[in-house]
Order: sequence, then structure tokens, then C-alpha cells
Amino acid sequence: MTSLNLVLLGAPGAGKGTQAELLVRDLSLVHLSTGNLLREAVESGTGLGREAAAFMDQGQLVPDQVIIGLVREFMQEHRGCLLDGFPRTLPQAEALTELFQELELELNHVIEVRTDPELIVSRLQQRLVCTACGAPYNLKSKPPKAEGRCDLCQGSVERRQDDEPETIRKRLAVYQAQTAPLVDYYQEKGILLTVDGDLTPEGTYAQIQAALGVDSQ
Ligand code: AP5
Ligand code: MG
Repeated sequence: MTSLNLVLLGAPGAGKGTQAELLVRDLSLVHLSTGNLLREAVESGTGLGREAAAFMDQGQLVPDQVIIGLVREFMQEHRGCLLDGFPRTLPQAEALTELFQELELELNHVIEVRTDPELIVSRLQQRLVCTACGAPYNLKSKPPKAEGRCDLCQGSVERRQDDEPETIRKRLAVYQAQTAPLVDYYQEKGILLTVDGDLTPEGTYAQIQAALGVDSQ
């Protein structure tokens, strides 16, 4: 299968990053997590990072025009993209539809990872991420092999600043208000696949493979 373009849609902590790691491994896709990109910018102290940090720390979305510009740049340079955390507003989804038309590419599927909000809160309170490559870990279900070090790149594994209970609740509310409507948007386009995010990572991934019609390893 060549040049698939996919979107991973789901609430904060639904498991988008976890499933992205498996999809990238098996389908040779280029992973774009807008959240990881923004955190890198914050870490490097760029202008974008300074602008984004104020929104991210409050659990709010970064303005559409900033994010759309970043994704446009990325999509012009890569083929076979896995978009994780974009789009998350209707204007972003419409801009992405236009961008695919302009580049004469197709968005093949939007995979909605649907996860119980109660599970999400406990997962995010246990989450650690690699500050270098963004790989997600979990104190309970997926601790790094060496404490504090990423299995993949040896980067430093830490808690995310927005994984505090109050910010998690804010992010979940923002998801319901601004991102959940995209489920209907993509359902109407006939490209939505919904999988159960309450299972183990492997269980959810098996559903994604079945929905995409790709062989399990
Ligand atoms: P972003 O980084 O995209 O965060 P998010 O959407 O809140 O999602 P998360 O990364 O928190 O969760 P995830 O679904 O990836 O779950 P994970 O796999 O890590 O965005 C952060 C911020 O950036 C936003 O709030 C916003 O400010 C800004 N931003 C980003 N994109 C934007 C955009 N397009 N527009 C505007 N602003 C934007 O899993 C979570 C935990 O659970 C981990 O510990 C993992 O190990 C564990 N886990 C996962 N799956 C399972 C499972 N099946 N069983 C047990 N544990 C599991
Ligand atoms: Mg993520």
C-alpha cells in the first residue's frame, strides 16, 4: 500500500500518539503530531513556541492560522502523512480539505479513537513523554525500560506540563466543544473509521488494522 494519508482523531489521552507509533512502524508513514511540533518550539524558545505556550498551558487551542500554516508547510514536503492532533476545529478541517485538493492528494481515512473520559483522566495522570521525540509512556501500562530514558532515542522522559488534573479537564471540554463536531464532518465525507480506545494498545491497533484492511504482523 503506498502513500496513504491518514488523520488520527480523538480526545486528549485517547491514545493517538500510542497508535501513531504502531502505524508509523508498520506503514512507513510520516508522523506529524502538531502537539509534539509545538512542544519542540516551546522547548527551543522560538517565537512560535512563546506564542503557543500561553495557549497550551491553559489547555486552550493555538489559533487556527498558526497551526494551518505549520501543517501546510509540512504537507508540501512530505507524502504519506499521518496527522495526529490536526485538524481539531472545523476551520482547520476545511483548510485541510482545500490543501489536499491543491496538492492533488487524497485523505484516505480519518481514524477516530473513542475512549471513555474516566480512563483518559487516569491515563494522563500516569503519562510520561520523551522530551526529544515525543514518544508516550505510562507509569502503569508502559514504563520506559530504563527509568527516565526513552526506549527509542534515549531522550529524557518527563511529565507533560498540561497533564495536571485541572488542565486535563479543560482540554476535554475544549475537545467536546471544538473538535468532536469533526466526527460528523468526516462521517458525511464517508471516510471515518471508529475504533475502541478502551482496549489495550494492541487491541485498539488490531481494530485499526482490520478497519484499514492491512495484515496484522
Ligand atoms: P496534543 O499533544 O495533540 O495533545 P492532546 O490532543 O491533548 O492529546 P495527547 O497527546 O494528550 O493524548 P494522545 O491521544 O496522544 O494519547 P497518548 O497516546 O499520549 O496537543 C497539546 C496542545 O497543543 C493542545 O492542548 C493545544 O494547545 C495544542 N495543539 C495541538 N494541536 C493543535 C491544533 N491542531 N490546533 C490548535 N492547537 C493545537 O496516551 C495517553 C497515555 O495513555 C499515555 O501514558 C499512554 O501510554 C497511555 N495509553 C494510550 N493508549 C492506552 C491503552 N490502550 N491502554 C492503556 N494505556 C494507554
Ligand atoms: Mg499525543
